[in-house]
Amino acid sequence: MAMPYVIALWHQKGGVSKTTTALALAACLVEKAHPTLLLDLDPQGNLTTGLGLNPAEARHSPADLLLGNDTVSRVVCATPWPGLDIIPSNPDMVTVSRWLHVREGYEPVLRHALSRPDVAGYDFVFLDCPPMLGPITIAALTAAQLVIVPTQCEYFSVQTLGSSLKLVQLVRGRTNPGLAYRVLVTLFDLRGALHSRVLAQLQQHFAPAMFQTIIGVDSKLRESQLVGTPITLHAPHSRGTQQYRQLAEELCAYVQRPVLQTA
Ligand SMILES: Nc1ncnc2c1ncn2[C@@H]1O[C@H](COP(=O)(O)OP(=O)(O)O)[C@@H](O)[C@H]1O
Ligand SMILES: [Mg+2]
Repeated sequence: MAMPYVIALWHQKGGVSKTTTALALAACLVEKAHPTLLLDLDPQGNLTTGLGLNPAEARHSPADLLLGNDTVSRVVCATPWPGLDIIPSNPDMVTVSRWLHVREGYEPVLRHALSRPDVAGYDFVFLDCPPMLGPITIAALTAAQLVIVPTQCEYFSVQTLGSSLKLVQLVRGRTNPGLAYRVLVTLFDLRGALHSRVLAQLQQHFAPAMFQTIIGVDSKLRESQLVGTPITLHAPHSRGTQQYRQLAEELCAYVQRPVLQTA
């Protein structure tokens, strides 16, 4: 039984394109005939609204998995797009973000839910983390094989990149020694001299652990979330779609490497 490859999107800072990357990359993988499941782990529910659903109306959320109360097949929602499923956020995620840490042994509970046979039909699972160094993120990093850390080439994003990666190290040491990470440059402005300078610095420090694909600014990505439609359908020929397709290719090549190294 082939189990899905589980990927967390994590950066401590908000607004760096975690949710956008989860949505766009999932859409491109579905286009390549890879069934994909999205989990909205952010109490703000942006991923959920980005697919046209209302978090206030969702009966189930990843909270049910984080608490060990339910299984994926019982809480998952199909979307209008075949091959793309979601477990949306709902108000229970606010409660869980406050109280999960007091439950003894909470860290691997999500991983157990994602290791059951009812998840085997997916090729990929994406865990869209909140911008918080909290128990939900720890549970997500414990469940993931790879964490993608999107970052802008801005001073503040690079600064928080360090503490975001410290959490990755911590989780490796405690609950998930095999966790790999890849830094993804997002919201890149080709014309900006500052962005190019910061990119060169990032490459110097992280080159082996960086995706070669760089995601630029494309208003179609924002627009597709407003109308709740995957970017591959909303604007199939846009630059943003093409860049995320390239990233999907790069990701598939990475996942198929015979020996996955942790970088
Ligand atoms: N490549 C991009 N081009 C244009 N807008 C983007 C891009 N990536 C993200 N955005 C927009 O920037 C905002 C923050 O992105 P989001 O994915 O929600 O970040 P995060 O999940 O890290 O908080 C959203 O309004 C989103 O639509
Ligand atoms: Mg987000």
